[in-house]
Parts: sequence; C-alpha cells; structure tokens
Amino acid sequence: MSKSHKIVSEFNLAGQFFGFILKDGYQPKMLRLNTNSGEYWIKVPKELRGDLVRAELYNQLKPGDRIQVTGESIRSVKDGTIKLVADRVQLPTNHFSPISPTSQPSAPPTMPCSPTPNASCGQQKKCSILVCSKSDCRKRGGEEIAIALEEQLQELGLGDRVQIKKTGCMSRCKQAPNVVVMPDKTRYSGLDVAEIPELIEKHFPVTAMT
Ligand code: FES
Repeated sequence: MSKSHKIVSEFNLAGQFFGFILKDGYQPKMLRLNTNSGEYWIKVPKELRGDLVRAELYNQLKPGDRIQVTGESIRSVKDGTIKLVADRVQLPTNHFSPISPTSQPSAPPTMPCSPTPNASCGQQKKCSILVCSKSDCRKRGGEEIAIALEEQLQELGLGDRVQIKKTGCMSRCKQAPNVVVMPDKTRYSGLDVAEIPELIEKHFPVTAMT
C-alpha cells in the first residue's frame, strides 16, 4: 500500500523493552525496543498510551521484558527515512493480553495501601506522587488533591524529597480522582482531601525520611 511520498508496510518486531521516550515528562511518546538487529524507537499512538502507562504502573511492563510490537512502517520516498508506528503491543505472557486500541483489558485490582513507608526516598532518591490531571479526575477534585498534597509535603519539610507529578488519564476515570504513590505504585482512587495527611504519614513518615 502506498500513500503520496510514502511507502507503508507492516512490521512485526520482537525484542527487549528498553523503556519509553516521554513527552511532557510522563506521556510515552516512543517505545524503545532492543532487537537482534539493533534498537528501534517506535511511535506510541494516543490510543495505546493509557494502557501502556497502566501496564508500567502495575509492573506488567518493565525494562528488560520481552515484548512483541506490530504496526506500520512508513518510509519517506523523498529522504528514505523510516517511521515505525505501533498498533499492537504484546506484553510478556505471564501478564495480561495484548494491548491494541480495540482491546479492553480488565481493570487491574485496586492495590491496598502500602504498609511500608518509603524509606528509600532518602537524600539520594526522589519519590513522587502521580496525580491524574485529565478531565474526570480534575472535575472530581484532582486539582485540589494535588494542591493539598503539595501543601502537606511542604509543611512536613518533604517538598524537596517527594515530587508531585501530574499525569495523563490512568484509565480509571470512574473512580476519579486517581493518585499513585511511587516508587511502590500504590494506587488511591476516589481520594478525598481530608485523607491526604494520613496518606503522607503512611508512605512518607518524617522519621523514616530524615
Ligand atoms: S481522567 Fe483520571 S483516570 Fe481518567
């Protein structure tokens, strides 16, 4: 099949997932795949981004995992450059089904609150709290949650250790607002501003962070 000034064909590549090239600090724009013939950077279309972010959050996709990616290879007739665009990503088989824009993977389970404080967020390693900033979460108080988290962290002197990061949709819009505490990936859905002090105390107790 050809388009004007472009030749489009299908590709099917298997290799090791090396991570994402991010856009705006959180959106996976390109997927890095290491294969026997070298490393490829494959464009991740919008339809796949949410699922891939979620797969990464739930440890279903980690650097080093073997994955298979299929999609379109678009070659420019003018300069010969080739652009790869994914339309389907097959995750490691011990995890869930392939991700494609038409697939409907079942929602991951709500993770319990971590009983383990993030003592690893010491001087060297910065922890973060991801706050969905997309419409459903924003409408249901996501912005206020982000502000309250920031204020609480500042108040406890943790502002330089724990970062608030706004993200795209986490694919759990009905449970908005959604927050994920990193690095232990604990998810909170339907969070209320009043619960913020308890959340911070649980994950980032000041005694463990000093
Ligand atoms: S809008 Fe926040 S999870 Fe979809």
